[in-house]
Amino acid sequence: MDERTTPSPTPAEDAEGVGRAADAPDTGRDADTPGADDRGAMKRPRRRRVLTWVAVGFAVAVIVALALPGFSVTQPGYYRRYPALAKRMDHWATSTHSRIKCTECHVNPGVEEFLVFAAKAVPAFYSQLITGPSSTNLLGPPERQACQRCHTAYRTVSPAGDLLIPHKAHVQVLNMDCVACHKNLVHTPNRRGFNRPEMETCLECHDGDKASDKCVDCHTRKQTPDSHDRKDWLQTHGRMAETQDCAECHDWTPKYCEECHKKRPPSHVGNWKKGHGPEAKKRGDGCLVCHDKKFCEECH
Ligand code: HEC
Ligand code: HEC
Ligand code: HEC
Ligand code: HEC
Ligand code: HEC
Ligand code: HEC
Ligand code: HEC
Ligand code: HEC
Ligand code: HEC
Repeated sequence: MDERTTPSPTPAEDAEGVGRAADAPDTGRDADTPGADDRGAMKRPRRRRVLTWVAVGFAVAVIVALALPGFSVTQPGYYRRYPALAKRMDHWATSTHSRIKCTECHVNPGVEEFLVFAAKAVPAFYSQLITGPSSTNLLGPPERQACQRCHTAYRTVSPAGDLLIPHKAHVQVLNMDCVACHKNLVHTPNRRGFNRPEMETCLECHDGDKASDKCVDCHTRKQTPDSHDRKDWLQTHGRMAETQDCAECHDWTPKYCEECHKKRPPSHVGNWKKGHGPEAKKRGDGCLVCHDKKFCEECH
């Protein structure tokens, strides 16, 4: 609705108004100066009526001037006019949340929050009409309350069951925003092409100091290769390292292999100092994973 459709006084209302005006002198005053006062009394209500309609018209215009842009800026299509948002919008359109409006994530729930947003969005709507799309960003990163409009459960395991992620501990206790981890949810894929959180994000805190960096604290055993469950893994893993890419997983922990190789292995028992000959012949360069040549040469 706009000004043009603002109703004008109907004849019935008009007649009633005139009737009231005609009654006025009877009820309001005595007959001292009938002529002049009568004419004034007839004009005044008419002026009042006009003023009332002007006021109503103005109010409607203001409401329309605010409501139209207010409604527009909640429609995802509106943001197409901002070229800088094109990439975000394309990815959003193919995401799980393609049917969720921008403002449902980007504006917190509640009338007050919406008004705060509208106070920025409505002026932007008009300036955009006049000067064309600007780069003003109306939509900041979503806050937790917005996500929790729809997601109320606190998961502890990923849907696939292969990752432990105690949401309550991070969201409620550590007070993290969902976006801290779910930054690839809607607008960009992560480095591996998914909309899921990445491990790098976790490792910012899970560095072995601020929080645990043990693989199995997050990855349920499903993620460890079967080879690792064999009884003789510690003896055989070295040979497997020659043919398989261990870095794929173990690069995550700096010096993972080296640290363990500083420990004395189970083979070094009994009179190892003298009895290592046969084993050394069998293993050859295998010994050099943990020892350097100089070490051997000290005695040999
Ligand atoms: C399901 C929730 C969700 C919906 C729906 C959504 N977004 Fe987002 N948006 C996010 C998340 C999460 C981020 C933060 C990560 C990022 O920058 O990509 C974000 C970031 C943004 C940013 C950058 C904010 C900043 O200041 O860093 C813009 C701009 C944006 N979105 C625009 C849009 C537009 C336009 C739409 C509608 C077409 C939309 N978003 C729909 C979740 C959503
Ligand atoms: C208006 C409701 C709504 C809002 C707001 C919303 N979501 Fe969703 N979300 C959904 C729906 C619906 C699905 C799809 C569920 C399904 O298919 O099982 C979904 C799916 C998801 C998924 C799993 C799917 C995927 O792509 O991996 C995650 C994770 C998720 N939402 C996180 C968030 C986060 C984080 C926010 C806040 C930035 C958010 N959601 C905001 C409704 C919402
Ligand atoms: C500490 C990081 C972190 C925080 C904070 C976090 N999440 Fe998650 N969330 C994850 C990870 C990791 C997964 C598992 C993703 C996977 O494997 O698909 C996940 C899974 C989900 C899923 C399930 C996806 C599905 O397909 O069902 C939803 C829904 C979800 N998160 C919503 C939220 C909401 C809402 C918030 C904020 C209240 C939030 N998350 C905060 C890391 C986090
Ligand atoms: C802002 C820092 C921060 C980020 C980012 C973070 N965490 Fe945590 N996380 C913590 C802290 C602090 C603890 C509690 C201390 C601990 O148990 O080591 C914790 C505990 C956990 C635990 C319980 C560990 C245990 O001892 O049982 C798991 C599982 C976990 N986080 C998974 C994740 C995953 C998965 C991600 C990434 C998607 C992640 N966290 C990102 C700070 C963080
Ligand atoms: C704080 C939690 C956490 C810890 C600790 C952790 N991861 Fe991850 N890891 C994740 C998350 C989250 C993902 C991403 C989930 C996904 O893509 O399914 C992931 C993904 C992976 C992937 C698949 C991604 C890729 O690169 O192809 C591998 C492999 C992996 N982790 C190995 C490890 C190894 C090995 C360790 C121990 C050195 C480890 N992780 C420790 C949380 C963790
Ligand atoms: C838990 C501790 C531990 C970790 C972690 C570890 N190793 Fe070992 N590694 C050993 C032990 C013990 C031996 C000696 C085995 C024996 O001789 O019985 C060994 C021996 C080796 C050998 C020599 C095998 C031979 O032929 O004698 C290689 C090669 C090797 N490891 C590679 C690696 C690589 C690569 C990694 C990292 C991906 C790694 N190891 C991680 C404990 C470990
Ligand atoms: C798919 C991921 C993945 C790959 C690939 C992988 N590992 Fe592991 N590995 C793990 C995980 C997870 C653990 C458990 C770490 C922990 O306990 O924190 C582990 C543990 C180990 C351990 C210690 C075992 C113990 O009992 O303490 C050794 C040794 C090891 N890996 C060697 C290797 C070698 C050598 C290769 C290459 C042939 C390799 N790994 C490839 C994921 C992997
Ligand atoms: C997993 C790593 C590892 C491998 C593999 C390994 N060693 Fe060692 N070795 C050690 C450590 C650790 C010590 C103790 C060094 C110290 O005390 O300074 C040691 C000590 C020794 C010593 C000194 C004697 C002693 O008892 O302290 C000899 C000799 C020795 N190794 C020979 C070998 C030979 C030969 C091989 C190959 C068959 C081999 N080592 C393979 C880690 C390894
Ligand atoms: C602490 C001194 C010491 C160190 C260090 C040491 N060895 Fe020995 N090595 C010995 C002694 C003693 C013998 C036994 C000599 C004998 O039986 O006459 C021996 C015997 C051997 C033999 C058998 C020689 C033969 O002719 O039968 C080999 C092979 C051997 N060592 C390899 C190594 C290698 C490889 C290293 C380094 C990883 C190493 N040794 C480190 C003291 C050492």
